[in-house]
Amino acid sequence: MEARARQGILGDDMKNEREQIVEMLKKAYFMELETVISYITNSVNLDGIRAREVAESLEKDVQEELGHAQQFANRIKELYGVVPGSEQFAAEQSYLQPPDQQTDLVHVIKGVIAAETGAIEHYNAIIEFTDERDPVTNDMVIAILADEEGHRRLFEGFLREVETV
Ligand SMILES: [Fe+2]
Ligand SMILES: [Fe+2]
Repeated sequence: MEARARQGILGDDMKNEREQIVEMLKKAYFMELETVISYITNSVNLDGIRAREVAESLEKDVQEELGHAQQFANRIKELYGVVPGSEQFAAEQSYLQPPDQQTDLVHVIKGVIAAETGAIEHYNAIIEFTDERDPVTNDMVIAILADEEGHRRLFEGFLREVETV
C-alpha cells in the first residue's frame, strides 16, 4: 500500500495493471498509425470541388494523428513497455479503403466518422481503466480524446451538408 502511494503506476505492486495499460496503449498506437495511412490515402485520392474542404481537413489531421501515435509510443516506453514493430501491425479500417469513385465523398466522410468513433471508444476504455491507477496516462488520453471528439464533430457536419445537397 505504501509503495503504491509513493510510486504509483511505476511501483512493483502495479506490474499487472501496468502491463494491461501498455497493451491498451499498443492498440491505440497502431490505431493512430493506421489512421495516418487512411487519411493520407483518402486526402490525396479525393477528387472534385466539393471534396476540397474534406481533403484539406484530412491532410491537416494527418499531422495531429501522427503526434498522437508518438505520444502513445512514448508512454509505452515510460511504462517499461516496448513499442511494437511493424510486423505486429494488423489493419482494421476496412471502411476507409479507397471507394470505387474518387468523388465519393460520403464514403470517405462516413469512414472517417467510423475511425474517429473507434478511437473514441478505445480511449474512453483507457481513461476508465487508468482512472485512479495512472493519472499521467489518464491525463494524456483525455487530451487526445478531446482531439478525436473534435474530428468526429467536424466530419458529422460535413456529412450533414453533403447529405442535404
Ligand atoms: Fe488520433
Ligand atoms: Fe482523429
